[in-house]
Amino acid sequence: MCGIIGYVGSRECAPILMDGLRRLEYRGYDSAGVAALHDGDIEVRRASGKIANLEAVLRERPLAGSVGIGHTRWATHGRPSEENAHPHRSGQVVLVHNGIIENFLALRAELEQAGRSFASETDTEVLSHLVDLELQQRDSLVEAVRAALARVQGSYAVAVMALRFPDRLVVARNASPLIVGLGSGETLVASDIPALLGFTRDIIVVEDGEVGEVAAEGYTARDLATGRAVDKKVLRVNLTPAMAEKGGYKHFMLKEIHEQPRAVIDTMRGRISVEQGEVFLGPEGPDAGFLRQVPRVHLAACGTSWHAALVGRHLITSLARVPVEVHLAGEFDAALALPGPGELFVPISQSGETLDTLRTHREARSCGLRTLAITNTVASSLARESDFVLYTHAGPEISVASTKAFTTQIVALTLLALALGSARGALSPDEVRRLLTDLLTAPGLIEEVLRGSDGIRAVAKKHMASRHMLFLGRGLLYPVALEGALKLKEVSYVHAEGYSAGEMKHGPIALIDEDFPTLVLIPRGPGHAKTLQNLEEIRARQGRVIAVATAGDEDVASRAHDVIPLPDCPPPLLPIVASIPLQLLAYHVADLKGTDVDQPRNLAKSVTVE
Ligand code: G6P
Repeated sequence: MCGIIGYVGSRECAPILMDGLRRLEYRGYDSAGVAALHDGDIEVRRASGKIANLEAVLRERPLAGSVGIGHTRWATHGRPSEENAHPHRSGQVVLVHNGIIENFLALRAELEQAGRSFASETDTEVLSHLVDLELQQRDSLVEAVRAALARVQGSYAVAVMALRFPDRLVVARNASPLIVGLGSGETLVASDIPALLGFTRDIIVVEDGEVGEVAAEGYTARDLATGRAVDKKVLRVNLTPAMAEKGGYKHFMLKEIHEQPRAVIDTMRGRISVEQGEVFLGPEGPDAGFLRQVPRVHLAACGTSWHAALVGRHLITSLARVPVEVHLAGEFDAALALPGPGELFVPISQSGETLDTLRTHREARSCGLRTLAITNTVASSLARESDFVLYTHAGPEISVASTKAFTTQIVALTLLALALGSARGALSPDEVRRLLTDLLTAPGLIEEVLRGSDGIRAVAKKHMASRHMLFLGRGLLYPVALEGALKLKEVSYVHAEGYSAGEMKHGPIALIDEDFPTLVLIPRGPGHAKTLQNLEEIRARQGRVIAVATAGDEDVASRAHDVIPLPDCPPPLLPIVASIPLQLLAYHVADLKGTDVDQPRNLAKSVTVE
């Protein structure tokens, strides 16, 4: 949700800023801009639309200088246009901002009355005016930014440059992510780690309530409220630049789908002992002594991560026999969740920066709950604010539509279910051993589905013209149906609905005719016979059936128009294995239709507004 990049060093900054923006483009792609300081002036280049448009502007009018900032936007206030694109300039100040200034209307009225004129419809522009005004009375950019931010309510990550201070940027943060990357003789700032991987693996996380000065020699931080110096820790991140590249695939989404056999193993790595029938969530996770006492678990998330939470509820309740509540983070209300003593709150977020999830997490903590974050992003806000962390270790997920994050979240939730179950005596070491042995077959089963990608493309070709599609699943596969429908609508803009197969007769059946295909998750196992009944009901209404079924299941094959085969699979693994064909179907429909697969319209990967 808006990406920020900044550079201070000795090299030409424009190519570095543009490289960073390309890597941050998944955060928003309505418009983009860069600014650089050169020869006593700050020049700004902006363009509406994607980064490619900004590249064209820079080819016509290159930008010189070795101190600069850049931004890729996901519009909140003001439509996507060149005037509303960042950086914004007021007087001698130029800045970029990610977040929302909630009191901007009042501030704007006040500034206009004081004679300031505005060039955009954005909330951000009040900030550049405020900093510029404060700078007229101060000799320090940090102090001017502090004074300006003291007037502002809302969320922000900002990077500010000013003519009078040509050798530095000032950054500050409240509720929107920002990190600093330390190079040799150069320092960068960015909204997230993949944007910095080509330069450095040494990073500093800018905290909420922090303001700092970024110079070629490094970063110095202060407390935003008091101005006092703050000590910062340097973290070394364990990622390589190649992890954030397409690696020969046409799209990041396809690459990330194919990374799942490796990713699910990385989620388990170092956390299981099959011989002992044990699961360890340490060193950052809770131990058995803590888990033994947990009377109830709350799972909270948004989007795809919420679907993983629905699978998690099923796994934790059935394997560990612990009651679980699942909360949509945007709907969370502590008064309704009725948190009790000793309960465990588990926020799930790929990015660790989704504001709805962060807010919910803060609310749960303020009710006294202990929290365990499941996230893919090291040092994210969620990871830092929670008592315990379980990293999914899926590697950077760049495609806006989430794939490997989902399956690795399910693996992490399975590990949590097993750890809870054995700590509480609901599972014996033998049972844990058997389940872990099953879990270790997941990569091979995923590989098998991936090998069927061409067949799934053929199914996609047949149905790509459909304007609607229904997805049905039962039990553990109901959330997979929801996720399959979400994937299809996100990347191909086909209207899709996920439903519990049992609920079909209570409404969606009215929609079915020859133009309304239904994808049915119907592997062998619990619920198979009932779901066969669904197939009959759909066929009786001339509906077309795409069945995701166990290979060789003739009962299904004789009733379906298309069959996508699944390997035989232990039931707890079904949500992982059955998700893969739905990801591939969504991908192929989108690719065949020619949509922007990795950056679908109107979406952003990390939603840092409520
Ligand atoms: C956005 C993305 C979704 C994602 C959701 C939650 O809406 O487009 O793909 O599932 O945020 O993201 P999180 O990072 O919290 O898992």
